[in-house]
Amino acid sequence: MRVLVTGHQGYLGTVMVPILRDAGHDVTGLDCGFFEDCVLGPAPVDPPSIRVDLRDVTREQLEGFDAVVHLAALSNDPLGALAPEITYDINHHASVRLARLAKDAGVRRFVYASTCSVYGSAGEELVSESAPLRPLTPYAESKVRVEDDVAAMADDSFTPVFLRNATAFGFSPRLRADIVLNNLVGHAVLTGDVRVLSDGTPWRPLVHARDIASAFLLALEAPSSTVHCAAYNVGVESNNLTVAEIAQSVVDVVPGAKLLITGETGADPRSYRVDFSAIRNALGFKAAWSIPAGAAELYEQYVSAGLTAEGFAKKFTRLPHLEALRSRGDLDESMRRITTDA
Ligand SMILES: NC(=O)c1ccc[n+]([C@@H]2O[C@H](COP(=O)([O-])OP(=O)(O)OC[C@H]3O[C@@H](n4cnc5c(N)ncnc54)[C@H](O)[C@@H]3O)[C@@H](O)[C@H]2O)c1
Repeated sequence: MRVLVTGHQGYLGTVMVPILRDAGHDVTGLDCGFFEDCVLGPAPVDPPSIRVDLRDVTREQLEGFDAVVHLAALSNDPLGALAPEITYDINHHASVRLARLAKDAGVRRFVYASTCSVYGSAGEELVSESAPLRPLTPYAESKVRVEDDVAAMADDSFTPVFLRNATAFGFSPRLRADIVLNNLVGHAVLTGDVRVLSDGTPWRPLVHARDIASAFLLALEAPSSTVHCAAYNVGVESNNLTVAEIAQSVVDVVPGAKLLITGETGADPRSYRVDFSAIRNALGFKAAWSIPAGAAELYEQYVSAGLTAEGFAKKFTRLPHLEALRSRGDLDESMRRITTDA
């Protein structure tokens, strides 16, 4: 299958591309390169790619692909809170436009990276795909809007699939340090402390980046009758843990690390436990990675690649890195790259 992966130079894309290629797919990337140099350890080998801002993609650029895997987005809550209108522009409007152009260009399948945070605060009950969507942030709201608008485009020629990923963890050469397990392990390696700023009670569903890639592969290859316009939570119930339990798994793998639950940010309303039975039953999805195994992998990679405090706080944290690109004059007010080598 000829597959276009948007956001291929991000944390998930960098891990996903080799997995799709190893499965025999002909992969092209599409990215504006916000994080292309944010690499820890040996540089990854990128596929052939189109360097363009998602907002400027043309129909011609989408011709000849059988499927689009759409990962490109401003990918977290702090970014969304900083610039909600740009988040809606990229994550919502440009994503819907991409889907429309892809459909016009004859692309038959559109696999979209949504998020379990569309459920917002859900309490103790396990939430399945039919639960009400109560997004709490512009980021999560943008994902709900894309699901709604792209679902309306589904027909015999166009099969969208919405993968609502749990929060990712695990090593990627284009590391993200601003997601919970990656962050806690990094902090422990650099300072000896595992600091939890909330009271530790919120539930978080987690899933390894390579397990997310496996789910996307399944969604690409499944018969369209199985996945047509379906939404699937991506993860496994055994990785629904409280923040305090996640932190304990870090203490267990980082020698000498101490657990500090400070509670300084008070209660966190983003708490939910997720039911992952639909993707297991429909697609045979199995998550290979537990949180302790992921914490151990991160510890080994951080130590062997020589993670520094500077890299951890800036290069591998999405918001300060984008702010640095902006203050260097590489991005304009709308966060378009000013210099490109397209
Ligand atoms: N990592 C997670 O925990 C997680 C969980 C659920 C959903 N997701 C979703 O998965 C997708 C990928 O996440 P990630 O963690 O790899 O994020 P990331 O920030 O590492 O990667 C996003 C990629 O999109 C590109 N991009 C952003 N805006 C663009 C634009 N205007 N034009 C072209 N390219 C643009 C960036 O350059 C980057 O390479 C996102 O849609 C995210 O919302 C991620």
